[in-house]
Amino acid sequence: MKKDLLKLLDLSGEEILEILDTADQLKYNQKHGIQHDYLKGMTLAMIFEKNSTRTRVSFETGMYQLGGHALFLSGKDSQIGRGEPIEDTARVLSRYCDGIMIRTFAQETVEKLAEYADIPVINGLTDFCHPCQVLADLMTVREHKAKLSGLKMCYIGDGNNMTNSLIVGGLKCGMEVAVACPEGYDPDPEVLAFAKSDPNFKFTLCRKPADAAVNADVVFTDVWASMGQEGEKAEREKVFAGIYCVDEELMKVTNPGCMVQHCLPAHRGEEITADVFEEHAVEIFDEAENRLHAQKAVMYLLMKKD
Ligand code: CP
Ligand code: NVA
Repeated sequence: MKKDLLKLLDLSGEEILEILDTADQLKYNQKHGIQHDYLKGMTLAMIFEKNSTRTRVSFETGMYQLGGHALFLSGKDSQIGRGEPIEDTARVLSRYCDGIMIRTFAQETVEKLAEYADIPVINGLTDFCHPCQVLADLMTVREHKAKLSGLKMCYIGDGNNMTNSLIVGGLKCGMEVAVACPEGYDPDPEVLAFAKSDPNFKFTLCRKPADAAVNADVVFTDVWASMGQEGEKAEREKVFAGIYCVDEELMKVTNPGCMVQHCLPAHRGEEITADVFEEHAVEIFDEAENRLHAQKAVMYLLMKKD
């Protein structure tokens, strides 16, 4: 049966660690000039119904580095934008390509695409989750801290797609996870139910950022208004401003050597101060780089022919 990457909830902790190990190896090989053509002659179709810099460039470059080819399909230029059903798009692309990456709004669209496609489907961000980003995030934390299990991750801000994937990925890898978001902006109920499903999971949902950040080894944040929520920007600013911000004051309650991660793009002066961002820029851009290596690992594991 074909395998997909639709959400981290579908993966075991062991499967996540297998992706991270493969990503580390591919990164090492690339840095040492060892090239691979595991996906020679293969094509990845990339459907984008939202904007992207990192996801598009890292998938396209990664596919090329593995000997294959990627093609960009914007929602509005393809027939998807004119209402062609996703079930039909899935069956058409399956006749031409070897994998599909999709960035869209509803998680159901990705799930339906995977149901109707005969080739692996990779979620490049939905309103519900951002699994590829969080694989890169976990890879980066492990690279800097040499482990994941036993570390404390905290997330400050909107309970969005990033929060959902961080909670699931962090807990599955044995991390303690603490989230601070305003009332009314909680993570998805399915994710909160998952976080409560195992007595071994260490998870807390707080309202005050300092409560979540205390003794953290890594602090994550993300924008207050995600793509698709542009109309709520002013209303959200009133709720988040001055409170849900990673600043020097907040960093004082974290553990010494605490990392800061941001999936980018970042809004300096909103969810993170310019000072904290620049102080942790190396870690943040390592995180951006690791999108390439983590996604090469995902494509290799899902698309390679045995
Ligand atoms: N972090 C992330 O997914 O970036 P893009 O929106 O630029 O792809
Ligand atoms: N939460 C953000 C992540 C961007 C990579 C968004 O969905 O816009």
